[in-house]
Amino acid sequence: MLLKKTFIIALLALFTGSVLQAQNFKYIGAAKCKMCHMKPAKGEQYKKWLEGPHASAMKTLSGDKAKEIAAAKGIADPATDPGCLKCHSTYGHIDSKLAAGLKMSEGVSCESCHGPGSMYKSASVMKKRDLAMQKGMILATEEVCRTCHNEESPTYKPFDMAKFSAEIAHPDPTQAD
Ligand code: HEC
Ligand code: HEC
Ligand code: HEC
Ligand code: HEC
Repeated sequence: MLLKKTFIIALLALFTGSVLQAQNFKYIGAAKCKMCHMKPAKGEQYKKWLEGPHASAMKTLSGDKAKEIAAAKGIADPATDPGCLKCHSTYGHIDSKLAAGLKMSEGVSCESCHGPGSMYKSASVMKKRDLAMQKGMILATEEVCRTCHNEESPTYKPFDMAKFSAEIAHPDPTQAD
């Protein structure tokens, strides 16, 4: 009986501990990642992202096709509609209390796929994957992609992880994997 109680208390402590910790991870915005991820020799991830589809996802919401889709749904302005913003921007996808530097205008940015960067952003942390993951970094798995690439998208294209991740690839040629 006592053992069971201790176990439950320990479990609760573990749970609240991880919740509290998770709340400390804030979204700092792509400009902060740019500082270190812009070197051509290491794959210039920032530039590749900027030229890819995700960085312009907010611009898309101001285009004619977006207006057409919105009109059919009775939405006045897709660029400010939470139902569109939640997939077309990292900012619209998260609890806004967790944004510390992140802007809506940057669209779907690094932290949608790699996790909120406030605690893992230092080079010493990021060099150690396990440590970085304890501090909020996530690996961009198919599950992460599918939080947006799903049938709720009005223009849904069947999601194929191998094909889609090749289209946005930004590998670091100096890293083994
Ligand atoms: C102070 C420099 C610095 C900043 C700022 C920085 N990084 Fe890094 N990042 C590194 C270093 C160093 C590595 C390890 C690889 C290497 O040596 O190039 C790394 C590795 C990574 C990896 C690969 C991790 C792995 O284990 O595969 C990802 C993903 C990443 N960074 C994303 C980000 C994101 C997203 C941001 C912004 C929120 C960011 N980084 C900000 C320096 C930085
Ligand atoms: C926060 C939401 C979100 C996440 C997470 C996300 N995407 Fe996207 N993705 C979008 C949006 C929105 C677009 C459309 C951008 C546009 O055209 O303006 C898009 C477009 C794309 C495209 C271009 C598709 C086309 O029509 O040509 C590819 C490729 C892609 N994403 C791959 C991925 C992969 C791979 C992952 C996971 C590693 C991922 N995305 C995660 C929202 C997301
Ligand atoms: C739509 C999702 C998505 C976005 C946005 C995104 N990445 Fe990635 N990133 C990936 C995927 C998928 C991989 C490959 C698998 C992995 O290492 O997680 C990757 C890998 C990386 C790596 C490791 C490269 C290697 O070969 O070791 C770094 C560094 C990185 N990303 C940095 C960034 C930075 C910086 C940004 C923003 C400027 C960014 N990523 C935006 C999905 C994304
Ligand atoms: C569930 C996530 C999600 C929601 C919600 C969402 N989108 Fe998207 N949107 C995407 C993704 C992912 C893409 C990339 C192609 C695809 O799979 O649909 C995209 C692409 C687009 C495109 C470019 C399509 C093309 O072929 O050029 C437009 C325009 C667009 N969305 C408008 C909207 C509007 C307007 C809303 C709100 C009414 C909206 N989206 C809501 C995820 C979403």
